[in-house]
Amino acid sequence: MTDTNPTSGSASSPSLENLLHETRSFPPSEEFAAQANAKADLYEKASADRLGFWAEQARELVTWNKPFTETLDWSGAPVARWFADGTLNAAYNAVDRHVEAGHGDRVAIHFEGEPGDTRTVTYADLQQEVSRAANALTALGVRTGDRVVIYLPMLVESVVAMLACARIGAPHSVVFGGFSADALRSRIADAEATLVVTADGGYRRGAPSALKPAVDEALAPKEGAPATSVQKVLVVRRTEQDVDWVEGRDVWWHEALEAADPVHEPVAVEAEHPLFILYTSGTTGKPKGILHTTGGYITQAAYTHKNVFDLKPETDVYWCTADVGWVTGHSYVVYGPLVNGATQVLYEGTPDTPHRGRWWELIEKYKVSILYTAPTAIRTCMKWGDDIPGGFDLSSLRVLGSVGEPINPEAWMWYRRVIGGDKTPIVDTWWQTETGAIMISPLPGVTATKPGSAQVAIPGIAATVVDDEAKPVPDGGGGYLVLSEPWPSMLRGIWGDLERYKDTYWSRFDGLYFAGDGAKKDEDGDIWLLGRVDDVMNVSGHRLSTTEIESALVSNEIVAEAAVVGAADETTGQAVVAFVILRGSHANRASTAEGAAEVQKELRDHVGKEIGPIAKPKKILVVPELPKTRSGKIMRRLLRDVAEDRAVGDATTLADSSVMDLITAGLAAPT
Ligand code: WT7
Repeated sequence: MTDTNPTSGSASSPSLENLLHETRSFPPSEEFAAQANAKADLYEKASADRLGFWAEQARELVTWNKPFTETLDWSGAPVARWFADGTLNAAYNAVDRHVEAGHGDRVAIHFEGEPGDTRTVTYADLQQEVSRAANALTALGVRTGDRVVIYLPMLVESVVAMLACARIGAPHSVVFGGFSADALRSRIADAEATLVVTADGGYRRGAPSALKPAVDEALAPKEGAPATSVQKVLVVRRTEQDVDWVEGRDVWWHEALEAADPVHEPVAVEAEHPLFILYTSGTTGKPKGILHTTGGYITQAAYTHKNVFDLKPETDVYWCTADVGWVTGHSYVVYGPLVNGATQVLYEGTPDTPHRGRWWELIEKYKVSILYTAPTAIRTCMKWGDDIPGGFDLSSLRVLGSVGEPINPEAWMWYRRVIGGDKTPIVDTWWQTETGAIMISPLPGVTATKPGSAQVAIPGIAATVVDDEAKPVPDGGGGYLVLSEPWPSMLRGIWGDLERYKDTYWSRFDGLYFAGDGAKKDEDGDIWLLGRVDDVMNVSGHRLSTTEIESALVSNEIVAEAAVVGAADETTGQAVVAFVILRGSHANRASTAEGAAEVQKELRDHVGKEIGPIAKPKKILVVPELPKTRSGKIMRRLLRDVAEDRAVGDATTLADSSVMDLITAGLAAPT
């Protein structure tokens, strides 16, 4: 870890100064409070008997095949077991039981493709399709416990594929479609997946964008890489692009489903049976396979979805704009909403295709009442101007949510005023891939919200801010965000690497889960998140590792050394800025503007190929040296100063204190 000073103001975060001056507060209206699912007594109930409270949620919100008798087993800490002697099926909970309860005709998904094609999927339709897909997977040899990688655009089939896996107890690992073939290969290998579900392509910014070629490349034999464990590839036809076909391996999704029986008995699994693995970036070059299990995860996903968004399944139309490739898509597109029997919108494309009002048009069209999105999207829409959302009827909205990074008060206020008609509560929800579900958030009918603050741990969750010595800071103080009690949807480890799990989250402070975020408590004890304190960046709400991008850069033959920082960016929160030292014979290439542009392009493309387009550095600066401490650690804090055009801070711990002058002089010189 480098800069561990949580109050130094990480690039993406609103500065401490600004936040200290933020005093606006918006209590819920009386009408909203009166009809809310969650009232103030929820906090009291949860704190009076925390485990009893969670057991009650699990019994109320989830249907069990075999009821559990034990709530939490923490004897194997830090690996928790929740509701461990119960059995259940997540897909049954998300689909079948709603049909059995007479809600088969309720719309589960209003699908809207980017080109404007639509599809309405009821819970009864979903039951048939998920059952067919489960039978198809079984026919293709997938057994309970086998891992299935899903590499798809945002389609109904993405949801169906995930639920089909859950139905047979085969953990899914969804890989975001924006990741490269190499990234896909390493995830498939780490999970030892036996089947991949993909599509010919998806629509993005008005054009078909191919996906299958990346799967073909990821599965092709590669020197030095072990042979792939994948036996079958199921291919959804979406764009009708030409695809290469491997006989005996590749199978069309529509053909497999047509041939399959629409009836399937869900497999009851133990509560601790793995539901999914989701890879996320850590502080090292190797992505971590975050492991989530079944019972605790769906309990907390459903509980938070019901209480934080105030979901009324009979009347609300809910829309979470996240891709299923991220944890937000897992918990708040698939499991939370469907377990709660919600009606939701699923949109394939980008917010500005074919025009910048597309999102608002969809809200008007489907009368969306709950919208959950990310600060980066809010800031982008804010930049496009008020008149764009102003041209649509957004009066159906009653709750707005934010997730993924700290939301600056200005964007929060814009969201409330322009999108929320100055009346909707905003829930700023803090959580992580690792936490599985929302942990810190206002409750919309209870909390007087403050622009820019996630505020309070939800009922049942214990979060606090501690100093370097693990002591809770007083109100007004800053430090590190920690979670002090196990929670139902917590990760159960890192796939195949228990030691790394202990090391990463449990070694910094004894007995406390270290989230990696800096935070402060205001005078009311409310929590304000200040951004990451480790080598993890947050670009447009996507988590990227500085180390991972650095290794991608140095794997290019022209690079000798690289250092990557997340620099503050008005729209994306942070942007990737790379400092590179070129190898001997290439060192001069950047001495002309043309040469520098060429090097930039070459390296950006290289990172795109190694990790994916989302990781491409916004800026690449060629430098003669990198600032290092005597022990050889790169001082990213100083590079961040350069990247953000600030005076360079205290450089006295550098091995060679003239290095920063060398760097800044070189950058100032005309190239
Ligand atoms: C990191 C987790 C949770 C789903 C999306 C991201 C940052 C997340 C907030 C928020 C301030 C936030 C944290 C966290 N983060 N939500 N409301 N306020 N920061 O999941 O990729 O696992 O990233 O996102 O830094 O540690 P993720």
